Amino acid sequence: MFYINTFNKHIDNRMISGTMTKNLVVYYSRKGENYFGGSIRSIEKGNTEYVAEYIAEATGADLFEIETVKGYPEDYMKCTEVAKAEQKEGARPELRSKPESIDGYDNVFVCGPCWWGTYPMAVFTFIDSFDWNGKRVFAVMTHEGSGLGSSERDLKNACRGAVLAGSIAISGSQAQSSKKRVSDWAKGCAE
Ligand SMILES: Cc1cc2nc3c(=O)[nH]c(=O)nc-3n(C[C@H](O)[C@H](O)[C@H](O)COP(=O)(O)O)c2cc1C
Repeated sequence: MFYINTFNKHIDNRMISGTMTKNLVVYYSRKGENYFGGSIRSIEKGNTEYVAEYIAEATGADLFEIETVKGYPEDYMKCTEVAKAEQKEGARPELRSKPESIDGYDNVFVCGPCWWGTYPMAVFTFIDSFDWNGKRVFAVMTHEGSGLGSSERDLKNACRGAVLAGSIAISGSQAQSSKKRVSDWAKGCAE
C-alpha cells in the first residue's frame, strides 16, 4: 500500500520501482464523535479508514485520503446538520489536496461513510475533478443501517464513462474487524 496523499505520513515501500499500480483506493473518513449501534462514541480513527487500508493492502493499491479544507464539527449531531445542508445544496467542499491525475489507474475503490444515504459531498468534489472514462469503479460504504444507500447509483452517475464493477457495504461498528471479508472481496475485484 502506498499513500499518495501528501498529508499522510506513512509511506510503504512495497510499491515496486516507481511503477504506478493499477489500483487506487480513495477514501473519506471522519474522526470524532460517531454513532455506534445506539450510542455515541468518540473515535480517533474513522471506520472507513480501516476498510480502505484493508483494500489497499489486499490489492497493492495506492491509497489517497480525501480531506476537506474546512473540517466538520466534532459533535455528531452538529455534523449531521452540516452534512444534510451540504447535501441539500449539492455542495462541493474544497479539498486540501488532490492527486495530479488518476490516469494511470484501471480500478478505483471509492470508499466513504454513508452520510444521509450517500457519500459525503467531499467525495463528489474528488470525483468531479477527474476523467473517469474507461475505469472500473467500486462502491465501498460503511454505515449504521443504510447499507450502500444510493452510493452505487450516485457513483455511477458521477463517474461518467466508468463501469461500476462491484460494491460492498460494511457496518461501521464492524469495520475494524472486517479485514478478512474486505480483503477477500477486494482481491476478487482486482483480479
Ligand atoms: C453526518 C453523518 C450522517 C450519517 N448518515 C447515515 C445514514 O444516513 N445512514 C447510516 O446508516 N449511517 C449514517 N451515519 C453513520 C456513518 O455512516 C457510520 O458511522 C460510518 O461508519 C462512519 O464512517 P467514518 O468513521 O469512516 O466516518 C452518518 C454519520 C454521520 C457523521
